[in-house]
Amino acid sequence: MKAIAAPGYGPLEGLVQMDAPLPTPRRGEVRVRVVASALNPADYKVVLGALKFLHGRKRPLIVGYDFSGTVDEIGPSVTGVSVGDDVFGFLPYGPFNNQGAFAEALIAKCAEIAVKPKGVSHELAAASATSGLTAIQSIRDLGRLPASGGQVLVTGVSGGVGSISVGVARKLNATVTAVGSGKGLELARRLGAVEVLDRTERPLPGNLHEQFDVIFDASAAYRWRGWRGALKKGGAFVTTLPSAAFASDKLASLFSRTRVHFVSVKSRPADLALLATWLGEGLEVPLAATIPVRDVASGLAQLQKTGGRIAVQVAGGF
Ligand SMILES: NC(=O)c1ccc[n+]([C@@H]2O[C@H](COP(=O)([O-])OP(=O)(O)OC[C@H]3O[C@@H](n4cnc5c(N)ncnc54)[C@H](OP(=O)(O)O)[C@@H]3O)[C@@H](O)[C@H]2O)c1
Repeated sequence: MKAIAAPGYGPLEGLVQMDAPLPTPRRGEVRVRVVASALNPADYKVVLGALKFLHGRKRPLIVGYDFSGTVDEIGPSVTGVSVGDDVFGFLPYGPFNNQGAFAEALIAKCAEIAVKPKGVSHELAAASATSGLTAIQSIRDLGRLPASGGQVLVTGVSGGVGSISVGVARKLNATVTAVGSGKGLELARRLGAVEVLDRTERPLPGNLHEQFDVIFDASAAYRWRGWRGALKKGGAFVTTLPSAAFASDKLASLFSRTRVHFVSVKSRPADLALLATWLGEGLEVPLAATIPVRDVASGLAQLQKTGGRIAVQVAGGF
């Protein structure tokens, strides 16, 4: 099979097309013929060697996490999935994953995928996987948003995680305030944010009119320390990146009436199934672009500069 891989840690231009053996599914696994994928900041961080623990050490390193495609072989003890099913999900972020989704095929655990909703393209399904589950697990689980809803603030709305988070928070019955810049501001209004704040115009978190149940810092650009005053009692500040500042905030938060958390997204099938339902109901996955897989290197360079969700056509894209 064809794949896009990095020979070792280095610049994005070092990514090459390679031939790799077609993998065979084992117990509880299926082989997916990948139709589409999507770019995540984790892809360039892994290639550049900035976050080595997100991927295994096998070389060449086939890149990419998000996927949507068709099951073409199943291993022993697989239930609930058949050859010919269209499924989506993402490969695990961690040192035991030696596969990549920028490849014609990959092996997935049947417990880590969900059936792609009919009528939703492979590109949108793939583009929703990491970002959608990050939003669900941050806002609903770590944020503990009440089932009846509440007030949620999302940062980085022009980004892949921030943009889908507006719709996810609304599906969770929240009223959403969005923080962003440029084209993201109009996008956030269209997605249903009731208040949209331009982070380039006024210092944040000043000027906030609300107190929030959950502040989801999808952009990982802010700190609990600065925003805690905008949280309701028991409310949570959830960030997408761990840091020394986060560790110090976590400690300080233990003596406060608010919480701070770091999300580490996990491929839970129930969450993927919920996301699939919402996609079928029209949850929007705002795409900044769609590129063929042969252009992944330039796509990742673009993502690094501007952020935003970029879908990747894998089938027919080499
Ligand atoms: N821990 C996890 O499980 C997990 C999962 C997924 C992603 N992540 C991480 O979450 C982060 C966001 O992911 P993504 O896919 O949304 O990335 P992205 O598409 O690159 O978006 C990042 C967004 O952050 C905002 N931003 C950029 N620079 C900023 C600054 N200086 N101050 C404030 N906001 C700034 C921008 O939106 P605006 O201009 O609209 O503000 C940008 O579009 C990445 O670091 C990614 O690695 C972590």
